[in-house]
Amino acid sequence: MRTSLFSRRTIRQGAMSAVGSAKMKLMFGCCVLLTLIALASRTTSYGGWKQYAVYPRGSSLPRKGYTLLINTWKRNDLLKQSISHYASCPGLDSIHIVWSEPNPPSESLINFLNHVIKLNSKDGWKVELRFDINKEDSLNNRFKEIKDLKSDVVFSIDDDIIFPCATVEFAFSVWQSAPDTMVGFVPRIHWVDKSKNGQDAFIYSGWWSVWWTGTYSMILSKAAFFHKKYLSTYTYEMPSSIREYVTKNRNCEDIAMSFLVANATGAPPIWVKGSIFEIGSSGISSLGGHTERRSECVNRFVAEYGGMPLVSTSVKAVDSRFCWFW
Ligand SMILES: *[C@@H]1O[C@H](CO)[C@@H](O)[C@H](O)[C@H]1NC(C)=O
Repeated sequence: MRTSLFSRRTIRQGAMSAVGSAKMKLMFGCCVLLTLIALASRTTSYGGWKQYAVYPRGSSLPRKGYTLLINTWKRNDLLKQSISHYASCPGLDSIHIVWSEPNPPSESLINFLNHVIKLNSKDGWKVELRFDINKEDSLNNRFKEIKDLKSDVVFSIDDDIIFPCATVEFAFSVWQSAPDTMVGFVPRIHWVDKSKNGQDAFIYSGWWSVWWTGTYSMILSKAAFFHKKYLSTYTYEMPSSIREYVTKNRNCEDIAMSFLVANATGAPPIWVKGSIFEIGSSGISSLGGHTERRSECVNRFVAEYGGMPLVSTSVKAVDSRFCWFW
């Protein structure tokens, strides 16, 4: 899956900014070690995870879960697949599907999803299913305010990636300990553009750069928990010029959300370790010119904010039950 998440350009940038540091060598050693640990722990089945679920089935604890906020576009088969999966996750309160297609969702799709949800809602939990139908096709749609939401937090997700329920629950519990922060699985980093000396210019960098340096400053909303209050901040308080830019360029709504949360908290997001399963072919990030366009967004948003709000960090949240040595 990694091949779709980086471009050649970002490898070079990552290399330039990290060469010569002993810390990096140490990191690399750690990576090798972690890989070995990961391979060794493959033998643990998901059945083993279930026992420790934060919300065991049949628990009579008052429920305060999360809302799945899923963005989809003309890929009903992927949508069915991912909803079928997430509907089985404990802790799920409701499902909101952001729908921006010209035609409304078909009756057969709605029936299928309702059926899947019903199959999974045992023990009196009733997961609510809602379509948020949009007239305009804009990437801002995925961050529209949701009225009368039961839960405080949304798990924002693309329709083509799946995480095991245990991973989602773990990220949810990380978010509970830092409810103002963005918590998720896909980190990205920005660098100061040294070629433009003196000026405040930045470069957006992809997965390899994060992997190489262990540092990140953004968590992409394709797989992230964040407080629902940021939806209304995005829609009503963020400068409208940013929303217009996102609509016009069909890109960077996720960077805009990262800026917004960083500006509100003055703190970095939290990257959670988890395995990603991609179920569709990846689109935009494998297209040429992607990194340049993303850097343009970063610089544009910095101008709007009158400074760089993003904060870098190298903290990574790991489930300690699966760390064997310390
Ligand atoms: C950033 O946060 C400050 C303080 O909360 C707020 O006043 C300001 O409007 C925010 N900036 C933008 C561009 O949203």
